[in-house]
Amino acid sequence: MTLRNTTVSYGTLAKFLHWAVASLFLAAYCAVYYRHWFTAPCPRSMELSDCAPESFITLNLHKSFGLTIAVFVVLRIIWRLLNPVPKPEPGSRLEHLGAKLGHGALYFFMIAMPITGYVSNGGGANFFWLIKIPAFWTTGLYDLLVTRGMGVEFETFSAALEYFHHTSGAWLVWVLIVIHVAAALYHHYWKKDQTLVRILPERLAKRFSRRGPDY
Ligand code: HEM
Ligand code: HEM
Repeated sequence: MTLRNTTVSYGTLAKFLHWAVASLFLAAYCAVYYRHWFTAPCPRSMELSDCAPESFITLNLHKSFGLTIAVFVVLRIIWRLLNPVPKPEPGSRLEHLGAKLGHGALYFFMIAMPITGYVSNGGGANFFWLIKIPAFWTTGLYDLLVTRGMGVEFETFSAALEYFHHTSGAWLVWVLIVIHVAAALYHHYWKKDQTLVRILPERLAKRFSRRGPDY
């Protein structure tokens, strides 16, 4: 087991980043939907700090998980560029193309969701109550790109991105994740190859390997 990928398996760091991002996705969804379903509604006109504490806590947790995903995704892309990508197991050209497109689309959402969440949001974030992050519209970058660059008001700018973040992106990413997980199970239980095993943490990889303990 090495830190780096080989041509046949993912290394420890790539595995860690894959499962950390997958868990953070789940955590970000749980936090935001807990807020929607189980906390008192917080009117838009209200300052976030005036909302019920659990509404503020769950939203801030959502933002903190989302921003952590953004950091991990940058690391993940850099690490992927510096490492060999394990060769796909034998399969048809269509299967390989489908896997490439699916992974590409997942990368797109892993980047687009945190960006649209942050830039379309009127408030900032308090990253795990440790670091205060200013709202995008209060930064010089916003002034340069949006006010002077695009010449639009915050409401116009944020509406489309907010729509993507809250509606289309929020659901499309689940469709992709369901297909992705189904494909992993298809490889493991139907094709009986090493596709799933080679991204599992070492102990699980040994347990589920199709090639015995020397997976
Ligand atoms: C991969 C990362 C992220 C994912 C998957 C994600 C997903 C979601 C989802 C599913 C919703 C609920 C949509 C709805 O039904 O209205 C939501 C709402 C929201 N997100 Fe994110 N988000 C991410 C990152 C972020 C980040 C980084 C921020 C800001 C720093 C952010 C800010 C918000 C805000 C303000 C809302 C509205 C909350 C509410 O109305 O209760 N998100 N996000
Ligand atoms: C239970 C959940 C999951 C399972 C079983 C799973 C399984 C896998 C497997 C088997 C691979 C290796 C594919 C190959 O070698 O061709 C993989 C790669 C990948 N997974 Fe997942 N995954 C899960 C969750 C997620 C989530 C939530 C995301 C993103 C939101 C994600 C994004 C990716 C990406 C982008 C790759 C390609 C890695 C690369 O080559 O850079 N996965 N996953």
